Amino acid sequence: MEYKLIGPEHYKQVLEHLRKSFFADEPLNKAAGLCQNGCSNPELEDHCLEALQDRMSLMAVDEKASQDGKCKIAGVVLNGILRAGDTSKALEKLEETCDADFRKIFELLHRHNLKYNLFEHFDVDAMFDVRILSVDSGYRGQGIANELVRQSVAVAKKNGFRLLKADATGIFSQKIFRSHGFEVFAEQPYDKYTDADGKIILPVEAPHIKLQLLYKRICNEGKDR
Ligand code: ACO
Repeated sequence: MEYKLIGPEHYKQVLEHLRKSFFADEPLNKAAGLCQNGCSNPELEDHCLEALQDRMSLMAVDEKASQDGKCKIAGVVLNGILRAGDTSKALEKLEETCDADFRKIFELLHRHNLKYNLFEHFDVDAMFDVRILSVDSGYRGQGIANELVRQSVAVAKKNGFRLLKADATGIFSQKIFRSHGFEVFAEQPYDKYTDADGKIILPVEAPHIKLQLLYKRICNEGKDR
């Protein structure tokens, strides 16, 4: 397996991979019924492209299965830069979306993040945000997600970040982040995230029971972000 930074020439294939893997399988997307396997979702694709444009995302490529100049993507991690104020703006922007399922998912994520001011708490003005972790179903259980997170920490360090964060939505991604030294800052049980009538907004399937906001501090002396 070859691990490399994702460039603009790969965006189309990365989105194709995500439609088949992350869009349908990620626990919140699944609970909301956001996409069927292979289908696109314009809002989620914009969210992914925004992270890709920060040029710190990585992909795992199976060279043996790549053909005719088309690489076979086994997994990706999309990493973006998060600055103070970005999450409030994203929450405001959600008002404009017509996709109620997308809104449900991102309201949970943004509101949970806004409860805790990591910028102030850790005295940083930007952080390395591990936004999307996705492995093709045919390649799962081989340590690819583990390696993508390990290499992301190295990319964060190289780019001068002192803080990484991730919103891990399922039990397996939570385990992966913790095994790379991420710590839990806050969590939201899904069965306690309810509407005014007490109805669970996102009925996430077991074994996934909570959202975790995780962080990792890295020593980057002399760096200011
Ligand atoms: N059952 C049991 N254990 C599992 C499973 C599973 N289904 N999946 C992963 N694990 C464990 C592994 O045993 C391993 O533990 P170890 O380090 O103690 O050996 C650890 O998790 C890492 O396993 P990997 O093989 O590196 O994980 P994989 O490459 O299979 O990818 C992922 C895991 C990314 C969660 C994949 O299942 C996936 O793409 N799921 C759909 C999308 C998703 O949920 N992404 C995460 C959302 S949160 C976010 O994106 C920030």
